[in-house]
Amino acid sequence: MNIILLGPPGAGKGTQAERLARRLGIVQLSTGDMLRAAVKAGTPIGLKAKSIMEAGALVSDEVMIGLIAERIGQPDCKNGFILDGFPRTTAQAEALDRMLAERGLKLDRVVELHVDDEKLTARIVGRFACAKCGAGYNDATKPTRVSGVCDVCGSKEFVRRKDDNRETVVERLKAYHAQTAPITPYYRGLGRFASIDGMADIDVVEAALVKAVGAAANG
Ligand code: AP5
Repeated sequence: MNIILLGPPGAGKGTQAERLARRLGIVQLSTGDMLRAAVKAGTPIGLKAKSIMEAGALVSDEVMIGLIAERIGQPDCKNGFILDGFPRTTAQAEALDRMLAERGLKLDRVVELHVDDEKLTARIVGRFACAKCGAGYNDATKPTRVSGVCDVCGSKEFVRRKDDNRETVVERLKAYHAQTAPITPYYRGLGRFASIDGMADIDVVEAALVKAVGAAANG
């Protein structure tokens, strides 16, 4: 099953893609995670992407299309994948169509998570993760049980994404509204599209997403 999760920064794409991938036994393909790994490893793509990401702008279509084309050809994608953060522009959506057609693949479902901008900012600036095991937390919605101690591994070190600050969120939202939101009507027109309320609790959003995807699986 091949799925796209659309939505603005902080909508919950990563949170829900991870849960759904586990549930369906398919792969989560997060372009943000791929870029952050490239930045950490200091690869040529990472070196190019770093300042762009920190400014809240979009990395070039050429780089992103190359990354995804390479990734969906790998064996672990055979059972299906969830695209989280791609496509983000009309050029990326068109390139994805070509990639899928070349491989004889189809899109089963495109699901948009809808969240108001004010809520997104609070979610994003509150996000942090354990530096050791990567467990995710949020100051507002999911603090650690014991202040300053990771629930999962007990580590006392935490990290925050460099682009998770108020100034950069403004730029990320601008990029979303100018370059990414305009691709939604295209997917809506294809018919296998669902828009769900991403403002509800995480478990409630998950249930709605499972229902939206299940409806596609049943035809
Ligand atoms: P990327 O990593 O994709 O960031 P993003 O789209 O800004 O999305 P986020 O990761 O911030 O949010 P999310 O929707 O995944 O929400 P999450 O589940 O984490 O991209 C980063 C950068 O890389 C871009 O700015 C760009 O520069 C570049 N890039 C990436 N892909 C690109 C592409 N295709 N083309 C060009 N450039 C690209 O949730 C956020 C927080 O909210 C968490 O703390 C979570 O716990 C909490 N939360 C989630 N759901 C709920 C809920 N229902 N209720 C309460 N809290 C919730």
